Amino acid sequence: MATRSTPITVVILAAGLGKRMKSDKPKVLAPLCGRPMVSWVLDAAKSLAPQQILLVTGHMKELVAEALEAHGQNWKGVTLVHQSKQLGTGHAVQVCLPQLGKNPGRVVVLYGDMPLLGGETLASLLELQQRAAPGGAAILTACPDNARGFGRVLRGPNGGVERIVEEKDCTPAQKAIEEVNTGVYVFDGKALVDALPRLTNDNAQKEYYLTDVVAMLAAEGLPVVAHETEELDEIIGVNNLVHLSEARWALQQRILEQHLMNGVAIEDPATTSIDHGVEIGVGTRILPFTVIRSGVKVGAQCEVGPFTHLRAGTVLEDGAEIGNFTECKNAHVGQHTKAKHLAYLGDVTLGERANVGAGTIFANYDGKLKHKSKVGDGAFLGSGTVVVAPNTIGARATTGAGAVVTREAGVGQGEVWVGVPARRLERKKAGAKPARPAQSKARAGRQKRNRA
Ligand code: UD1
Ligand code: CA
Repeated sequence: MATRSTPITVVILAAGLGKRMKSDKPKVLAPLCGRPMVSWVLDAAKSLAPQQILLVTGHMKELVAEALEAHGQNWKGVTLVHQSKQLGTGHAVQVCLPQLGKNPGRVVVLYGDMPLLGGETLASLLELQQRAAPGGAAILTACPDNARGFGRVLRGPNGGVERIVEEKDCTPAQKAIEEVNTGVYVFDGKALVDALPRLTNDNAQKEYYLTDVVAMLAAEGLPVVAHETEELDEIIGVNNLVHLSEARWALQQRILEQHLMNGVAIEDPATTSIDHGVEIGVGTRILPFTVIRSGVKVGAQCEVGPFTHLRAGTVLEDGAEIGNFTECKNAHVGQHTKAKHLAYLGDVTLGERANVGAGTIFANYDGKLKHKSKVGDGAFLGSGTVVVAPNTIGARATTGAGAVVTREAGVGQGEVWVGVPARRLERKKAGAKPARPAQSKARAGRQKRNRA
């Protein structure tokens, strides 16, 4: 009999194209809060500490591997299994037979389109299967308000599960059954590998249904127990973009709640998007209509928003303030530095206590390549400054309103630059370093006229 120490294998089915998503990419790569849908499922699988995870992928398996790697997937213990033709969920588990071997311990089967399934729910299903008689299985069921597309659970007189009927194969009476199959199973491995080769595709979709394994076990007198979950979020199965948006909203709420519990003041969760894996320090205020993408780190006591977009690679040090209509990408913003209105901070490192005026742009892209800029501590960029990258603005330097600091101009420490193109302004009491030699008479003349 299976015991607590019986090894666990998790099989995740992720080969379907998901025609109903109207996309040419594998369904399980649909983006959900900054990562592919299947990454969420892999997290749940990993929480069981299984001996192996088999991820069944289809004709775009390279895409799946690439996408997961791009999101930092740790492949330890995860094996990709290729299902070249998508002949059904039962067939998808059949192609894992070589990896499963003759006695694979306990086998948990999950579908890659259930991103909200939690590790705790899985663990309780494992417990239930363990308590069933040897060879038995446990399935996760639910009674959602809308049974859309789910298979219906047919129970026998003693309460055990007899079989699952796909919606497309249901009689009107069966369709009226409220209890549905969520698509989460714990099998006795031996019983599973014994049943799989006997599946047929004699049904409305001409597919090999994994659900028929349940009927086979029950017909052999093996116990199939059901655990009805009340966590209806967890069972969202994503088959189209409506379901995807529901899943996103549910995951988003989880993420926001976590930040709120950690002491991040999110004023209006309904209009705030924060991706998976974003770090935010205590006491930071997030104002409405803010979007924070994955790969962003925000320190403590910062203020972000309203209407702010923080993109990958952005780091806000403690006390930084990024306000209305400001976009940051790959920006490192020093402590107490402010960019409160209408700015683009792309590929830039800003020191401490700098001030970025309204309408300032770091022009980081020359049409082919992205370039970096650096701004020193205490610098003050006047409204509407354009800094063409690569460039440096020294500590405590100032730019005048509308200054266009041309590529590699390099504003020195404490200097004041104004105009288009921006030139150094000589001020008697500026406290700046001695002026640089003028570059050319013509330019000096222009500067003079500018200043006049
Ligand atoms: C399935 C269940 C249904 C259940 C529902 C829960 C079957 C026959 N039906 O239906 O009882 O209520 O899930 O959401 O299992 N996949 C493959 N290879 C294939 C076919 C599918 O890997 O050949 C994968 C898909 O990528 C997907 C998962 O299996 O992640 C489920 O497939 P899907 O077509 O969405 O099944 P449903 O029709 O939703
Ligand atoms: Ca599905």
